[in-house]
Amino acid sequence: MYFGTKIDESTAFSLLDCYAGAGGEFLDTANKYASWLPGCQGGESELLLGRWMRERGNRQEMIVATKLGLPMPGVEAGLRTAQIEQECEKSLQRLGTDVIDLYYAHADDRKTPLEETLSAMDRLVRSGKVRQLGASNFAAWRLLQSLFTSRTGGWAEYACVQMRHSYLRPNPWMPQEFAVQVPASREMLDLCTDQGLRLLAYSPLLGGAYTRNDRPLPAAYDTPDNHARLCVLSDVARQTGFTPNQIVLAWLMQSHPATIPLTAASTVEQLRENLAAAEVRLAPEILMQLTNATHAN
Ligand SMILES: NC(=O)c1ccc[n+]([C@@H]2O[C@H](COP(=O)([O-])OP(=O)(O)OC[C@H]3O[C@@H](n4cnc5c(N)ncnc54)[C@H](OP(=O)(O)O)[C@@H]3O)[C@@H](O)[C@H]2O)c1
Repeated sequence: MYFGTKIDESTAFSLLDCYAGAGGEFLDTANKYASWLPGCQGGESELLLGRWMRERGNRQEMIVATKLGLPMPGVEAGLRTAQIEQECEKSLQRLGTDVIDLYYAHADDRKTPLEETLSAMDRLVRSGKVRQLGASNFAAWRLLQSLFTSRTGGWAEYACVQMRHSYLRPNPWMPQEFAVQVPASREMLDLCTDQGLRLLAYSPLLGGAYTRNDRPLPAAYDTPDNHARLCVLSDVARQTGFTPNQIVLAWLMQSHPATIPLTAASTVEQLRENLAAAEVRLAPEILMQLTNATHAN
């Protein structure tokens, strides 16, 4: 998200080289990254990834996901046909590629008819500019409606979902804390299982809050259940010797439905710690203990 803005080019290249060297191949960005920072326009992250893939000559080895639909300077929020066509072209150019592997609606657009959005997304797939479609920050019922609309139209369907999701669960009655970000609900997890959709969990480390005093937990996570879950997490960390961040990432990958955590790192140390979570195997009883932790037990 911050490559090419908060994270300068040489640091970003070192992180990407370290990731690729460890076998990493999945890159997540968006047209808007990181337009909210002072002096930034959006597109900086895509441009940096484009330069890195060009310099390393590794576009074919990478799976590139990007998004459209949230506002940025010169671009309104929404998923109208013209926005979809124009933003896709701009992302292709910035990334220096002729195909986007996974193209997300970054947020739902309830003002545009689903038929318009989904038929325009389908044309991108049919024209070969996009391989797969994804939905981010959708309510479960709107995602299901989108799936049925695509099926009825004979169009490409959303194949995965990207939501705010971690081991701790935010109070669902405080969604205003996250603005356009939508935390994965029980309903969404159920829908993913039922429809065979992969869930990609963003902000899985809550920006470092599991281990860092300089990152307080957002208020919506301050619940009795989460305090109980933090106690179990630190017990499991002590028992296993893995860090809390590694256990959170491993739990997400091994819980049901299996999730792909999308984490970010600004130092090679953070990246190595996070990547090592891919090797962590949690015993079934530990997984159960983590999953079932509430203030009532
Ligand atoms: N679809 C959406 O609406 C949406 C929303 C948000 C994010 N995303 C995607 O998801 C990705 C990850 O989101 P996120 O950045 O919120 O994820 P995150 O993994 O919760 O937070 C990453 C931040 O946590 C800190 N960190 C990471 N590893 C650490 C470690 N081992 N020890 C201590 N601190 C650590 C770093 O902060 P410092 O850099 O400050 O040190 C890092 O930048 C983004 O890059 C973006 O691609 C999507």
